[in-house]
Amino acid sequence: MAKGIFISVEGGEGGGKTSQIRMLGEKLTSMGHVPLLTREPGGTPGAEAIRKLLVESSNGHWDGLTEALLHTAARREHLVNAVWPALDAGKIVISDRFADSTLAYQGYAHGVDKSVLATLYSLAAGDFKPRLTVILDLPVEVGLARAAGRGGKESRYESLGCQFHERVRQGFCEIAAADPGRCKLIDATQDMDTIHQAILAEVMKVLPAIA
Ligand code: TMP
Repeated sequence: MAKGIFISVEGGEGGGKTSQIRMLGEKLTSMGHVPLLTREPGGTPGAEAIRKLLVESSNGHWDGLTEALLHTAARREHLVNAVWPALDAGKIVISDRFADSTLAYQGYAHGVDKSVLATLYSLAAGDFKPRLTVILDLPVEVGLARAAGRGGKESRYESLGCQFHERVRQGFCEIAAADPGRCKLIDATQDMDTIHQAILAEVMKVLPAIA
């Protein structure tokens, strides 16, 4: 049994996950922890190569199942070569997205059958799952406008339109409602510090698990 603790941070586009993870990482470091901050797709050189295929607008027009397979391959690589070794070393691992993104984007939004996604997940991860999942929720128009303001090459998902992203949002809300023990839905329209405090309060509840 791993000694560390795995936390995922999820949500639609432009919800501020990356900034919140940085703030949480700084806080945990100031408390004497050595957290691993990582992301999906990505987190290892091999998985970052798959990320490039998936998120840059110039790369292909995958259907939902092909995307799910690629995300699953990246996830397996990330788990084997980054997440599980860090957990074995007793670290707190915080991942910017994990498997709930596959369910929301490829399942709810692209329409891939949820039992197929469950099978792919168990092939890649077995019965491993996050101890805590924070889902940052905000209206689609607000998130897409924020994400567009960032610019850059990683715009393939952002360009999929409001209806696609409404299904993503609905998916995350249903995932949170179905697993309230693991998933905490946080209103991401609040100011950054309020969101940080809300996330920290949830993290503190699970930290004794590694004491
Ligand atoms: P990011 O921009 O939040 O880093 O995420 C990259 C994109 O990848 C984002 O638009 C959501 C998408 N994605 C999926 O569609 N399925 C997945 O399983 C993961 C991890 C991400």
